[in-house]
Amino acid sequence: MRTRRLGDTDLELTTVGLGTWAIGGGGWDYGWGPQDDKRSVATIRRALDLGINWIDTAPVYGLGRSEQVVGRAIKGRRDEVLIATKCGQVWHEGDTGAHSRLKADSIQREAEASLRRLSIDVIDLYQIHWPYPDEDIEEGWGAIADLVEEGKVRYGGVSNFSVSQLERAQPIHPVASLQPPYSMLRRDIEGEQLPYCATNGIGVVAYSPMEAGLLTGKFDKERAAGLAEDDWRRRSDQHREPRLSVNLALVDKLKPIAEGNGRSVAELAIAWVLRRPEVTSAIVGARRPEQIEETARAADWVLSESDRAEIEDALAERERRLGQEQ
Ligand SMILES: NC(=O)c1ccc[n+]([C@@H]2O[C@H](COP(=O)([O-])OP(=O)(O)OC[C@H]3O[C@@H](n4cnc5c(N)ncnc54)[C@H](OP(=O)(O)O)[C@@H]3O)[C@@H](O)[C@H]2O)c1
Repeated sequence: MRTRRLGDTDLELTTVGLGTWAIGGGGWDYGWGPQDDKRSVATIRRALDLGINWIDTAPVYGLGRSEQVVGRAIKGRRDEVLIATKCGQVWHEGDTGAHSRLKADSIQREAEASLRRLSIDVIDLYQIHWPYPDEDIEEGWGAIADLVEEGKVRYGGVSNFSVSQLERAQPIHPVASLQPPYSMLRRDIEGEQLPYCATNGIGVVAYSPMEAGLLTGKFDKERAAGLAEDDWRRRSDQHREPRLSVNLALVDKLKPIAEGNGRSVAELAIAWVLRRPEVTSAIVGARRPEQIEETARAADWVLSESDRAEIEDALAERERRLGQEQ
């Protein structure tokens, strides 16, 4: 499987990393409906068998559950996998959601709790999940620098940061990576973040490349209507009308391009994200082994110029249709 170096670090990441938000299951504000932990463990182990060498998780995914399941799945296989987790979203016993906190003492406690849940001695990449509260970014980032100093964290990264927020963090401690959303439906980072990261030796690990299952060729109106009560996608604009129909029309355009290569739309969506050299790796979510078996194949697929041009046409058509909807 292809690898790329994460910014200026010495971490070589496979171009597909496993995302474990959905594995946190349901029962909280940003849950994905029912999820069987045994199946999650099998999915994670399958990802490692396929050669994927890194996993992205967060304490908030299932309010501790995702990290615990990851910890169970990697038992005995720690040397095969790099672990990325996050901080800055905390909750109290009995809560169904989290709030933002970047105070140094809070981050120190969070790191200890993540190490325990994951049953590991060191976090390979520790990321500030969201840049909130904005006024505490410097304090939170300083706390991550301290954790690196203490040897509990190898590299610090950030997620959902703007360029001006990256610029505030950089003088305190080098930012190893940015974790932004990036998919055919969300291209904002092409303007400022990607060029900034490339110039400043910051790796980019792009999240939701399939737009939470929408760009797979297997999501349709029936599936949208049948989402579990506690699946956050019921509230997502992309997964609801009027956008849903426009997005599904795009997927119809993508299908022949994927099929012409003997590939799936899910693979196409990931390969499209990886066409940008600034992107180190795509974080690909999966909740069943078969899903990652299919999407891991995208790691080595380099899109041809003509396929890229056809995709751009399809995306321009989607923009026109969205304009008409408004
Ligand atoms: N830093 C942040 O703020 C942030 C935010 C979002 C995500 N992330 C990270 O990025 C990761 C990936 O993003 P994501 O999980 O939102 O979205 P994604 O990777 O775009 O989509 C993952 C979802 O697509 C469906 N799927 C996966 N493989 C499939 C296949 N082969 N065929 C059909 N459906 C398939 C699954 O859901 P169903 O089977 O239920 O449809 C799966 O949970 C997350 O797990 C998390 O680690 C980070």
